[in-house]
Amino acid sequence: MKVAVIGAAGGIGQALALLLKNRLPAGSDLALYDIAPFTPGVAVDLSHIPTPVSVKGYCGEDPSPALKGADVVLISAGVARKPGMDRSDLFNVNAGIVRSLAEKIADVCPKALVGIITNPVNTTVAIAAEVFKAKGVYDKKRLFGITTLDIIRSETFVADLKSKDPSQVSVPVIGGHSGVTILPLLSQVKGVSFTEEEVAALTPRIQNAGTEVVEAKAGSGSATLSMGQAACRFGLSLVRALQGEENVIECAYVEGDGQYARFFAQPVRLGKNGIEEILDHGPLSAFEEKALQDMLEILRADILMGEDFVK
Ligand code: APR
Repeated sequence: MKVAVIGAAGGIGQALALLLKNRLPAGSDLALYDIAPFTPGVAVDLSHIPTPVSVKGYCGEDPSPALKGADVVLISAGVARKPGMDRSDLFNVNAGIVRSLAEKIADVCPKALVGIITNPVNTTVAIAAEVFKAKGVYDKKRLFGITTLDIIRSETFVADLKSKDPSQVSVPVIGGHSGVTILPLLSQVKGVSFTEEEVAALTPRIQNAGTEVVEAKAGSGSATLSMGQAACRFGLSLVRALQGEENVIECAYVEGDGQYARFFAQPVRLGKNGIEEILDHGPLSAFEEKALQDMLEILRADILMGEDFVK
């Protein structure tokens, strides 16, 4: 397996690369690309960790050498959020970065599974899809917005509240990856129940958890370590599915049947070709149903912004 991390010299990219160096299956290749000139140095640094994963770093204007032969491409290139900005404020810079990287992926490794971390994910995934389409290589089974951070946050906060082992808590999160579009399905958490007040407090805490980090970092950026962990979990799931493991299930922001919006975060079963099956999100509580209906206009507008950007 070859996994390429794009934006690899950044806060998320370095954390992600470190985790992948330690956790990819033996014999894997890790390719790190960033416009930052010290990226080859990040790779040399990681290469001293004794795991059977080779790592190479690339910088400069052209990501092609890093993308060549990649099975999985994880993109965190862009600028990070500062206090007072929400994820859509990042749009102008990050949209252009994702567009040009998607063009390269379409040319160099059109069959790779592509996971997008760069925010605003609700919009950047639509941008990548439109670029791939224009290039004639779009396969909706191979493009993912990585929303795993919302899931790991939900698992952590639920475990804290209910005094559980977080590794034993599983929370599906559907919708999108920004503010009210993030909808944790607390009604589906096995083995715990919540009062209405708990749901009313926990849901916005999960939705605004990114802002908690941005404010605590006081101007120096947004979530990097937890996002690295989340992207590693998702990336490894893609790799396991590509290697033939069955029943690999993750929630991700993907183009499904369009019931709610063209792109929607939902549980999917992964396989050798990416998405094998879009899974039903299951029954929603009245609170969740209302939250879902209330978010759709925002989510659809986010998607349209990405589609319009490419057109
Ligand atoms: N190609 C490759 N790398 C790029 C490009 C590009 N065109 N443009 C910028 N980068 C790199 C930067 O050089 C930097 O190393 O992307 C990296 C971003 O790192 P940080 O600024 O540390 O930001 P980070 O916290 O990692 O977040 C990156 O992920 O979650 C999102 O909102 C976040 O969109 C932001 C992105």
